[in-house]
Amino acid sequence: MNVSHEPRRPASPDAGEIFGALSSELETLKAADLYRAPRVFEGRADRVVVKDGWELLCFASNNYLGLTADEAVIRAASEATLHYGTGSGASRLVSGTMKLHVRLEEELASFKGTEAALLFGSGFAANLGTITALVGPEDVVYTDRLNHASIIDGSRLSKARVEIYAHADAADLESRLVRKDDRNPGRRRLIVTDGVFSMDGDLAPLPEILKLAEVYDAWVLVDDAHASGVIGPRGAGTADYYGVDSPRLIRLGTLSKAFGGEGGFVAGPADLVDYLRHKARPFVFSTAPSPATTATALKALEIVQTEPHRRERLRANAERLREGLLSLGYAVPGGPTPILPVMVGEPATAVALSKALEDRGVLAPAIRPPTVPRGTSRLRVTAMATHTHSDISRALQAFREVRRGSP
Ligand SMILES: Cc1ncc(COP(=O)(O)O)c(C=O)c1O
Repeated sequence: MNVSHEPRRPASPDAGEIFGALSSELETLKAADLYRAPRVFEGRADRVVVKDGWELLCFASNNYLGLTADEAVIRAASEATLHYGTGSGASRLVSGTMKLHVRLEEELASFKGTEAALLFGSGFAANLGTITALVGPEDVVYTDRLNHASIIDGSRLSKARVEIYAHADAADLESRLVRKDDRNPGRRRLIVTDGVFSMDGDLAPLPEILKLAEVYDAWVLVDDAHASGVIGPRGAGTADYYGVDSPRLIRLGTLSKAFGGEGGFVAGPADLVDYLRHKARPFVFSTAPSPATTATALKALEIVQTEPHRRERLRANAERLREGLLSLGYAVPGGPTPILPVMVGEPATAVALSKALEDRGVLAPAIRPPTVPRGTSRLRVTAMATHTHSDISRALQAFREVRRGSP
């Protein structure tokens, strides 16, 4: 007989007990209407998307020019994969740099009117890498209250002193620049702002910010994630829109929005870019973008530069949508951009409105805290260059019905 004389161990806790604290946080999110589950779509990210077999008109993406589904862009990505393979195989400084990367960096620099540019795996990585490389514990970052999470995280990670100024408020920025903190005098001063604010659609007061940078000897990092390819006579972003330039300006962008792919970049003076090539950790320690991703951006950049009518169409569509929503009585603040925030207030109301629109075939997502401040939940409605007049009329009809509360 084989009897074990081992002392009995107490039963080990199961995963439910070990991670119990997380489960109860999730319950708290549910109770506050802040729980999120991604919608799953079939097929392409285009002006019409398919969910559970149903077509929905998409007013919910950053694919402003419709390039994710553009045949020339798709062909360029496919040919790059056939020619160069699926991956770059290593980080840029090891063996991952291909001619495609170098060409894209040169083209981006020329587009932005700078000496050089550096590619990152994403816009998030570009912000994290750039801010942490440029400033440290001795320095000060001045950041707009509504800046993107990647700027907030980059600023925190840098360990610089962080001064948060009121949204798009150059006077408040100046009141902070003028202060002398004797215990921690700013060795470097970096002002960081979204060019186009991602959830509000308004613009940073870049001309005033550049003047302040001159007076107070600061550098300026403008994040043109939602501006590149979208605003300005050349589609080159916020500085292009205002017609301003400055040797203090560092231009950051993404390739994931108007450019229809993924990736981020920084454009500026050659020495700054060279420095980032050495110091920006998400550049140094991350695999180089794939050939398909890089070729997508190259073709999209060519289209942005040679087909300005797409930008004009986007502007006209955004204007039509904005006027329609305003005439229905919705509050739609913002600026001359395709991002139209339909202000609602409470998370539950935003979710209910979004759901009612979806039931009518229109996708317009609810945006809630922590993405936006408490009490400012909204629908983030975005126009695309490829929306037809009939798409916009259908969307406005849906907004009319849900306003009236009709079935
Ligand atoms: C202002 C801003 N900066 C940076 C990012 C991050 O870009 P990516 O999605 O390419 O990582 C976003 C994207 O949401 C953004 O809105």
